[in-house]
Amino acid sequence: MSDRIIIFDTTLRDGEQSPGASMNTAEKLRLAVQLEKLGVDVIEAGFPAASEGDFEAVSRIAGKITHAEVAGLARASKADIDRAWGSVQHAAKPRIHTFIATSEIHMKHKLAMNREEVLSATLEAVRYAKSLTDNVEFSAEDGSRSDWDFLCKVFEAAIEAGATTVNLPDTVGYAVPNEFSEMVRYVRDHVPNIGKAILSVHCHNDLGLATANTLAAIQAGARQAEVTVNGIGERAGNTSLEEVVMAINTRPKYLPMSTGINTELICPSSRLVSMISGIIVQPNKAVVGANAFAHEAGIHQDGMLKNPMTYEIMKPENVGLISTKLVLGKHSGRHALRARLQDMGYDLSDEELNLVFDTFKELADKKKQIVDEDLEVIVTEGILRTPDIFKLEYLHVTSGNTVLPMASVKLSVHNRSVQGADYGNGPIDATFNTIAQLTGTESELLRFTVSALTGGTDAQGEVTVRLKENGLIALGRGSDADIITASAKAYINGLNRLEYLKENPVRAVV
Ligand code: KIV
Ligand code: ZN
Repeated sequence: MSDRIIIFDTTLRDGEQSPGASMNTAEKLRLAVQLEKLGVDVIEAGFPAASEGDFEAVSRIAGKITHAEVAGLARASKADIDRAWGSVQHAAKPRIHTFIATSEIHMKHKLAMNREEVLSATLEAVRYAKSLTDNVEFSAEDGSRSDWDFLCKVFEAAIEAGATTVNLPDTVGYAVPNEFSEMVRYVRDHVPNIGKAILSVHCHNDLGLATANTLAAIQAGARQAEVTVNGIGERAGNTSLEEVVMAINTRPKYLPMSTGINTELICPSSRLVSMISGIIVQPNKAVVGANAFAHEAGIHQDGMLKNPMTYEIMKPENVGLISTKLVLGKHSGRHALRARLQDMGYDLSDEELNLVFDTFKELADKKKQIVDEDLEVIVTEGILRTPDIFKLEYLHVTSGNTVLPMASVKLSVHNRSVQGADYGNGPIDATFNTIAQLTGTESELLRFTVSALTGGTDAQGEVTVRLKENGLIALGRGSDADIITASAKAYINGLNRLEYLKENPVRAVV
C-alpha cells in the first residue's frame, strides 16, 4: 500500500459552512490559489447546487487551478451532479464528489428512505457521475454511525459503479480513535473490491477528536484525509490540515507516510484563511495558534536557550512562522510591490495595482516596514471584497475621561453620501451607533475582538466582529493603524456581508 496520504482540502466547502464564514468569489479564488501553493492534492471548491454564488465560485476556481484536483460536492441526485459537473468540467483535473447518508437515523428521519432505496440511489448517482468523469468520490454521510455491514455493502456498490474514492465521514464527530480505526480495518477486510478505490476519512471535531480519529484511520489504512485549514467547519469544525500534516512529519515512527504539503506555507495559509473567513485562530491552537511556539515558564525558557528541542517538537521555521519575507518600505516602488504580490499569488491588473500601491504608500507613511501580512490586508480589503454597499468616507471621534464619547461619520450608502453623529458609552460604541443609524440596520453585535496584525507599536490593529440580523450571522474584519477606524471598518464589513447573505441565500443542504 502506498505511504502517500492524499490531502483533500474542504476549507472552501465544509469550512465555509462555519457560522458566519461566508466568502465571496474573489476571496475563494485567492484561497484556492494559496491551497494549491500549499500543496493540497484536492480542493473541494464548494457545493455548486447550493447557490448561484457557489456555482460561479467553483467554476472560476476550476478554470484557475492547474495542479490540484478540483472537486464539486453533489447530493446523490442527477440535478446536483449536473450542477457539480457543470462547474468543474473545465478543470485540469475535475472530480465529482457525491454523497448520501447511510445511518439508520439519517435514512429514517432525514431521507425517509430504507436501505434498499439508499443502496440503489448510490448506484444510480455514482454510475451517472462516472458517465461524466472518471474521477468520482462517494461519501457515506454519517458513516461512523452506520451499520458496518450495510456501510460495506454501500461502498462495494459505489466502487462497482465506478467510484475511485470512497469516503467514511464521522459527520457528527461521535467516533473515538480505536473504534474508528477498527471500522476502517473492517471496511478494508469486508469490501471485496476496496483495492480498486482509495479509502478516505472525513472527521468532525465535536469531541475534539477529529485529528486523532483521522490519524488512527490513516494507521489503519485510509489514504485520503479530508481536512480544513485551521480546522474550520460546521459546528466544532473539521480535522485540521496542519495538525495531520505536522503529526505525520513529526512522528514518522508511528506514521511512516508522506504528504505533498509545503509545510513552510502552513502559517501564511492559516493567516489568510483567518483573514478571509473572519474566524480567529484560538491562541492555543496546535501548530498555528499565536502561543503554539511561545514559552512562558522560566524553566522552559532556560531549557529552550540551552537547546530548543528541550521543549519544542517542531521548528517554527518549518511551519513558516519565522518570516523570511522581503520587507517593503516607503521607498519601495511599484515594481517591487508587483513582484512581491506576484510571489504571494496575486496577479493584479494595472488598475488594481494602482489602488493597492496608493494604500501601500499611505500605510508606509505610518509604518516603517510593510510585511506580507500588511499587503494581504490591503489586497483583501481593497480588491477581493464584494463591491460594498456601505463604505466609510470619514470618521471623527472625540473621547477621553472628561467628555461624552461622540462619533461623526460620513458613509457612502448605495453610492450616496450620508452623514450623522451619535454618542455612546465609549468611542467604539459611539461609532457603531452612528453607523447603525446611517445604514438603517439593526444588527446585534455578538462578538468584538481586537488583535495586532504584526509586532511593534506601529502594528496595524485588526478587529473582528460577529453580527446577527434576522437570523443571519456574518463576520466582519477591518484593519488600520488606528484601532477605532479598524473597528468601524470591521463593523461596516460585517454589515456588507449581511447584505450579501440577504441577496445570496444559501440553501441548507448538508
Ligand atoms: O460531514 C460530512 O458527512 C460531509 C460529507 C458531505 C462528506 O461533509
Ligand atoms: Zn463534513
